[in-house]
Amino acid sequence: MDDPLRRSLLYVPASSEAMLRKAGSRGADVVIVDLEDGVLPDAKDDARARAERLWLELDLGGSEVLLRVNAPGTPWHEADLDVAARIRPAGVVLPKCEEPARVAAVAARLRATPLFLMVETARGILAAAELARVPGAAALLFGAADFRASVRAGRDPEEAELLVARSALVLAARAAGIEVFDTPFFAYRDETGLEASARRVRLLGFDGKTCIHPGQVAVINRVFAPTAEEIERARAVVAALEAAAREGRGVATVDGEMVEALHAAEARRTLARARRSG
Ligand code: COA
Ligand code: MG
Repeated sequence: MDDPLRRSLLYVPASSEAMLRKAGSRGADVVIVDLEDGVLPDAKDDARARAERLWLELDLGGSEVLLRVNAPGTPWHEADLDVAARIRPAGVVLPKCEEPARVAAVAARLRATPLFLMVETARGILAAAELARVPGAAALLFGAADFRASVRAGRDPEEAELLVARSALVLAARAAGIEVFDTPFFAYRDETGLEASARRVRLLGFDGKTCIHPGQVAVINRVFAPTAEEIERARAVVAALEAAAREGRGVATVDGEMVEALHAAEARRTLARARRSG
């Protein structure tokens, strides 16, 4: 069976009942109900109770719904995990992951719930390969705001300060055979900037991108779906290799480039993703 398609992942603060109620209708492949940094400390308990009360009404739009809990070591973490154990979300997003043992403890407590690990600090980035291999880890998520603060980075218009961390996450996730999703783009009215950021990380290997505003979903869904040219090329690669195989050859050429078995696998992945992107 195909993995679920996860191009866009929309954070929805659990402090807002109005945002929660409409979360499933925003077109995001994944909705992340947030108990962490989108919610002020004074509002944490109310937000947690609201998320639990509304949970069954949330997955109406066909989005997968995840719960972002507060990090281990914060005063809200335990109560958040209790709620997660009761509502059994499609996944739990665990922020500020740094120590594999702590992640493993959460995985043991939540048993079969897939964990989406946020890796967003210097220590986290350096531990990414081990974090990604903790049983129960389904994906790594990058968080640029915490990362910049953690390493005292500035902000380059082309996000150069994020490149090493992003690439480290892609390597760690792929080595462990799990997915990897990029940080939200915070200038939520800047569609051009968002599109450039999304294209940049798609090129690096990311599977999708998180976001903070419904207006960002369509751009992300578009960037992370195969383009018409990519689909056409994928079909050509599969056809050329099938024709070559019938003649007993393992390689073929498409548009003046040699292609071989690994390209057929990649092309089939593109075609499967295109089918699911609709
Ligand atoms: N999830 C669901 N709905 C959202 C939303 C979100 N993250 N952000 C905005 N909306 C809704 C609004 O409720 C409004 O709905 P309506 O048209 O039905 O009334 C609509 O989208 C338009 O919102 P808009 O007025 O453009 O947004 P804003 O300027 O009031 O708010 C933000 C901008 C960034 C404050 C807001 O989008 C937000 O709180 N985002 C989430 C932030 C977050 O989760 N941070 C932590 C993770 S990094
Ligand atoms: Mg963060």
